[in-house]
Amino acid sequence: MLTVSPSPPLSGSLALPGDKSLSHRAALFAALAQGESVIDNFLEAGVTRAMLAALENLGFDYQLAAGRLTLRGEGLDGWRARARQTGPVLDCGHSATTMRLLAGALAAAGVPAALDGSAGLRSRPMGRIVEPLQAMGVPVRSTGGKAPLNFKARNGRPLQSQIFDLPVASAQVKSCLLLAGLAADGPVTVIEPGPSRDHTERLLGGMGAEVARMEIPGGKLRVELQPPATPLAPLNLSLPGDFSSAAFLIVAGLITPGSEIRLQAVGLNPTRTGLLDALEMMGAGIRLENRRERQGEPVGDILVRHTPLSACRVDGPLVVRMIDEFPAFAVAAAYAVGGTVVREARELRLKESDRISALCRQLRSIGVEARELDDGFCIPGDQKPAGGKVDPSGDHRLAMALAVAGLAAQGPVKVGHPEIIRQSFPGFQEALSGLGAKIDD
Ligand code: S3P
Repeated sequence: MLTVSPSPPLSGSLALPGDKSLSHRAALFAALAQGESVIDNFLEAGVTRAMLAALENLGFDYQLAAGRLTLRGEGLDGWRARARQTGPVLDCGHSATTMRLLAGALAAAGVPAALDGSAGLRSRPMGRIVEPLQAMGVPVRSTGGKAPLNFKARNGRPLQSQIFDLPVASAQVKSCLLLAGLAADGPVTVIEPGPSRDHTERLLGGMGAEVARMEIPGGKLRVELQPPATPLAPLNLSLPGDFSSAAFLIVAGLITPGSEIRLQAVGLNPTRTGLLDALEMMGAGIRLENRRERQGEPVGDILVRHTPLSACRVDGPLVVRMIDEFPAFAVAAAYAVGGTVVREARELRLKESDRISALCRQLRSIGVEARELDDGFCIPGDQKPAGGKVDPSGDHRLAMALAVAGLAAQGPVKVGHPEIIRQSFPGFQEALSGLGAKIDD
């Protein structure tokens, strides 16, 4: 049980663990590249360990020490050379990113393997990758649209060039199909209804692949990958801090009276920072400093000062740009003046938990009024949570958001099963207590 009690002002400056999305991609893309990749500030957490274990099971050795990952790849031929007749079962744990991105790489390599995971991961939709992969000619089957997924060997035939018009913006689906496109007989094009995170495009572009991304009429985005003629170049990166982890500390600083904190070298990729736009609408006291481009990704320091917030409405393309931040955002909304409404966010029901229903239920259990809508939620403002016990429903982001809600509540918030936090933000408790929060494990 993690107990967070009403706390004095938070203050101080800290660096965050490496970005989760970039860590997943860096490890997998290193195995697809030709040569040795070195990645610093790699996120050592439950979900990224699932990716590394799967790569190890496929025959890739790696070293990971003091946040530095070293991994050598030999292009798609390296995957084929390591392939076993009976493909291994790769346990993706709780990580949908591991499963969906690995699926794209397995499709390109054409090697046999099965992808499986926790009960939670087995309940997540996989038809959204399996059907388009089958349309490219990938011999893959799901289990009723879910994991386990079974890939058969594909004897060297290229995959078919395709144009996919996705019904939902999803960086995982887009990345899966672009990775499969590495072995296609022509371009693979993904049209997405909104701007999902573009780390895959940036990284593959930096590794020598030709990836074009353009806006098309109707606010949609078109991403096109040409199958590269030469192997991908290895990576040499130092990853920025994870904006999605920073989100919890940003909200902590905003709601805890008198706080002033600095979060150093956080990733500020605009496809990820929708929360900053939403908080700006709410009047939040946030400043960005030391902004720079580092190895193809925008990075900077985030300065947060406690500010009284006012309500806002979130819908449309902004939803995609803050898709992982709704648990943290909902806590800010509870403390704001006026009613906050989130719409067009049905996708939240398909995350690590049903993040509409579980979030509203858990907020109510600490005395925050929160109403579930079919495609979002609304939270009447001016609420100071009473405190109480919560069950984060196996969802790391719910656990962290509810913990943060305790910082300015009337009484302590006790979060059950806090070990789930280590899936994405090991050191969360230490980070908050280092800023002065009252936390007991
Ligand atoms: C991720 C994409 C998002 C996000 C997840 C990480 C990624 O999922 O929720 O935490 O790294 O590509 P969707 O693409 O399914 O929206």
